[in-house]
Amino acid sequence: MPALVSPPTVYLNGVFQPLDQARISVLDRGFLFGDGVYEVMPVYGGQPFRLAEHLRRLGNSLAGIRCANPFDDMQWEVLLRNLVAQNGGGDLSVYLQVTRGAGPNRDHAFPVGASQSVFAMASPLLPLPQVYRERGVSAVLVEDIRWGRCDIKTITLLANVLLRQQAVDAGAFEAILVRGAHVTEGAASNVFVVRECVLVTPPKGPLLLPGITRDLVVELACANHIPIHEAMLTTEDVRQADELWLTSSTKEIVPVTTLAGAPIGTGLPGPLYRRMMDLYQAFKDLARAGKYQ
Ligand code: PDD
Repeated sequence: MPALVSPPTVYLNGVFQPLDQARISVLDRGFLFGDGVYEVMPVYGGQPFRLAEHLRRLGNSLAGIRCANPFDDMQWEVLLRNLVAQNGGGDLSVYLQVTRGAGPNRDHAFPVGASQSVFAMASPLLPLPQVYRERGVSAVLVEDIRWGRCDIKTITLLANVLLRQQAVDAGAFEAILVRGAHVTEGAASNVFVVRECVLVTPPKGPLLLPGITRDLVVELACANHIPIHEAMLTTEDVRQADELWLTSSTKEIVPVTTLAGAPIGTGLPGPLYRRMMDLYQAFKDLARAGKYQ
């Protein structure tokens, strides 16, 4: 069970403080323009999971929006471990956000000399209901209306919010996004299909987020001789798949068994899903024991 203490302690601009006391300027560009980037990182048994990978992606996102990284990796690690300790350790989801800070007024152009806002908080990492893993979830296909730099993990998430809500309105777990002829990813997840025992996921590029969970699944497949390759997927490839999975840091790997009302494969989670979940859980157990990050 999550060991979060109440009220949670958050980090804001150099100060650890109770969540309900944290305050930020209304001129902060995160508030006015969505001008910032973020990360979501799981913590298992008090150990940040895939920390180096998350920090590398954060650095890339900051470079992508022409913002300096306020900390080096060691400083980030100290901050995050401190945050985890102050929130009781255990299994947590850590959110961190860097915005371009507050300018003197509302002006689209970058402010000169503004200091960035750095925020981090920890929430309980709630396990996905077991029935989702045993029976699978449903998803819908929706048009990907986002911009051309979806590889940057920006806090400007309005399109993702609207897309996810389309799934919720349809009673589905996730929206799978289609741009032109191809499936890119989910509203907050990456996509894998299994076709004749081969795992396929779209290649990284500007139109999808380079998911940390995606990369770990690819790594685990390679290390365990599960055939895998990266290829663009059409909606037909996804509809006709034997298995369809979604991956994300907070949801891990989720089997999709119904797409737009029609079954995927047998309509139940497939054998490769169960194999990959076992590998993923074994990897998590090592991380929990401090043997890997
Ligand atoms: N979202 N694609 C999108 C658009 C996402 O927002 C996410 C994760 C992923 C999966 O990435 P990762 O495996 O690194 O979590 C893919 C997080 C969890 C969020 O916004 O809450």
